[in-house]
Amino acid sequence: MKEGHVFLVGAGPGNPELMTVKACRLLQEADVVVYDRLVSDAILNLIPRGTTKIDVGKQPHHHPVPQEEINETLIRLAKSGRTVIRLKGGDPFLFGRGGEEALALAAAGIRFEVVPGITSAQGCAASFKLPLTHREFAKGIRYLTGHCRADSGIEFDWDGLADPQTTLVVYMGLANIGEIARRLMDHGRNPETPVLAVSRGTLPDERHITSTLSNICIDLQAAVLPSPTLFIIGEVVRLASILGTFRHDMHPEQLAVSP
Ligand SMILES: C[S@@+](CC[C@H](N)C(=O)[O-])C[C@H]1O[C@@H](n2cnc3c(N)ncnc32)[C@H](O)[C@@H]1O
Repeated sequence: MKEGHVFLVGAGPGNPELMTVKACRLLQEADVVVYDRLVSDAILNLIPRGTTKIDVGKQPHHHPVPQEEINETLIRLAKSGRTVIRLKGGDPFLFGRGGEEALALAAAGIRFEVVPGITSAQGCAASFKLPLTHREFAKGIRYLTGHCRADSGIEFDWDGLADPQTTLVVYMGLANIGEIARRLMDHGRNPETPVLAVSRGTLPDERHITSTLSNICIDLQAAVLPSPTLFIIGEVVRLASILGTFRHDMHPEQLAVSP
């Protein structure tokens, strides 16, 4: 029997043109694709008709397929000699539990490979022509999860996150962005710090709002952005409003920004 193999593959933020060449090739060669809720329909449509598709998507407010069960499915399929793609939104190793799947495969002695994907932070930023770092505005970036277990609050080193020269990207933040904004302001981050919220970034129905730390909660209630939504917090968001509306015939002064 042929030896099975699992590829942990990043599908990128949703637009199929943002997938890697390797991810596209593997999709044509796999026997089985095990995919998540974040993988867009346009990407699922690239999977050949004869390939088995297994949906382990975790719908909000529905019981998720337990991680253990996903691990067991991957191991079982690989042991039966299949070439398996575990297709995950964005990058498989960024807030995607890809590490847990890799450890389970390694423990079971299954051959596996990791194919990176464009994470949603990069996809959403590019969609708004927003550089996540920029001299004078941001010297670093922090990727954070806004999701927390019910029994523990959101705990970060808030003093570090309040640094005005750090861009913050909050994944899974829809439920807790108000709390995150409040804690940042309590620790000294300027309430006028701009915030960009991007919903379904890079997809045809992408939506966004720009706001500030002090207003994001109220603005979000009015806008009702659907999931998945990502937040980019920091002075670099000012550049999105300039570069995002850029026309080649603009006067250079219209492009001037100051920190
Ligand atoms: C479980 S995490 C997975 C992240 C993924 N591994 C990545 O690298 O982008 C899910 C979160 O990613 C963000 N996300 C994923 N795709 C997105 C998209 N197309 N637009 C906006 N946010 C997205 C949202 O914050 C969502 O709550």
